[in-house]
Amino acid sequence: MNDPATVLIVDDEKHTRDGLRLSLEDDFDCYVASNAAEAMEHLKNDSVDVMLTDLRLGADDGMKLLDVALALPKPPVCIMMTAYGSVDTAVEAMRRGAYHFVTKPLNLDEVELLIKRALRSRSLEHENVALKQQVERKFSIEGILGQAEVMKPILDTIQQVAPSRATVLIEGESGTGKELVARAIHNLSGRPKANMVAVHCAALSAQILESELFGHEKGAFTGAQERRIGRFEQANGGTLFLDEIGEIDPSTQVKLLRALGEQTIERVGSSKPIQINVRVIAATNRNLAKMVEEGKFREDLYWRLRVVTIHLPPLRDRKSDISILADHFLKELAKANSKPYKPLGDDALPSMMKYDWPGNIRELRAAIEHGVVMSNSSRVMLKHLPAYLLNPGGLWVRKTPTAEAPLEPTPQAKSDLDVEEAEHQLILTALQRSGNNRTVAAELLGMSRRTLQRKLKEMNMVRTHRRRVKVEAAAAQQVHPTS
Ligand SMILES: Nc1ncnc2c1ncn2[C@@H]1O[C@H](COP(=O)(O)OP(=O)(O)OP(=O)(O)O)[C@@H](O)[C@H]1O
Ligand SMILES: [Mg+2]
Repeated sequence: MNDPATVLIVDDEKHTRDGLRLSLEDDFDCYVASNAAEAMEHLKNDSVDVMLTDLRLGADDGMKLLDVALALPKPPVCIMMTAYGSVDTAVEAMRRGAYHFVTKPLNLDEVELLIKRALRSRSLEHENVALKQQVERKFSIEGILGQAEVMKPILDTIQQVAPSRATVLIEGESGTGKELVARAIHNLSGRPKANMVAVHCAALSAQILESELFGHEKGAFTGAQERRIGRFEQANGGTLFLDEIGEIDPSTQVKLLRALGEQTIERVGSSKPIQINVRVIAATNRNLAKMVEEGKFREDLYWRLRVVTIHLPPLRDRKSDISILADHFLKELAKANSKPYKPLGDDALPSMMKYDWPGNIRELRAAIEHGVVMSNSSRVMLKHLPAYLLNPGGLWVRKTPTAEAPLEPTPQAKSDLDVEEAEHQLILTALQRSGNNRTVAAELLGMSRRTLQRKLKEMNMVRTHRRRVKVEAAAAQQVHPTS
């Protein structure tokens, strides 16, 4: 049989302590304390399952004791007692993480029932965590979590394609896990672990990208003072990850096609072919097929790259994964921030399920980090998460799951604001949230930095136009007064 649960009774009135102990000691192991210091001794030295504490403890404050108890690595379930029928304070205690409260004079049967209920809910919670861990083990490879139906074929493909040499094209909006998948394929490929070289193609100008990829000889161009080994050579025997492949210029596209087809490269400024053995994985958040149609991306290169294609769905299409992903990040980020692990409070998940997560899993991770850092109770509640989750309808959605698809305001935004204004609001919110960093804002918005720049320019034009219309209207008013 299990050991009885332990209950710590904290009250500065002796008759309350004795009364409670007498009534509870048949079912539980009871400790008593008459002030906060004594209570802390027990909490530190004994394993306490339930703490039953008065809100007023003589000179001590029961609320402070609650906070300290809940911050312990293994916090007890806390039930507050209040003699003053002051529900407000009791509600505040629950807001801080107390399980429930009882008012004095105490109904001892009620207290006993409440303790039993609290213990049941705690053991269910523990079971839940254990089940989640099992699920995590089952539905994750190389740190990629995904339990939703849409993720199963993706996890299968990753495992199947990894040991081959096939080129893989990973498509998906920003923050959907493209780089994580590339690393998983590399790690499972049997190629040396350390040897995945990543190149972020969008960040580099055409000339720099070319010499970055293929290297250059000394004197190949102004400024090329030394010979430089390119990323293809660095990745030899391993994997080269070409991120944002849709951004590369036509001349680099030709060279890349040749490197892929012939497994040879030439350094810039040299015509000597160098044999390479590199597995290429490319990623894009653009619609490459459409870019081919529009003549912006070479068709032959497109087909070379997409020997196997993995399309990562946006988080809004796999919302059933939000809970396991959130729990995974709660653990990871608690550790990274040297904080105890705290599960989500009951009010958080429903709002998280309603939100559309335009920045996908990266945005979810950032929201959880906000929660981990801001939480001052035993859970991460909705109020600890970024404020935009309080309005989970959000301002906009993207109906078609491509980064290029236009942003569309939600019905709520439509009724509140006109379409254009809704998009402007959204962009301003993203800029605000990113501390005015346009690259991060673009990521949050799921658009390329270039698209964001264009939209910002348009916004400025619209504002200038509106200002001009206003000025003209005011001038006309002066010329033709209506009254
Ligand atoms: N399925 C997943 N399980 C766990 N963590 C994930 C998953 N997918 C993404 N992440 C995490 O989300 C974050 C963003 O992922 P990643 O950088 O791979 O996205 P991306 O698609 O490459 O984004 P971008 O297009 O902006 O470069 C990372 O912290 C990554 O570890
Ligand atoms: Mg990436």
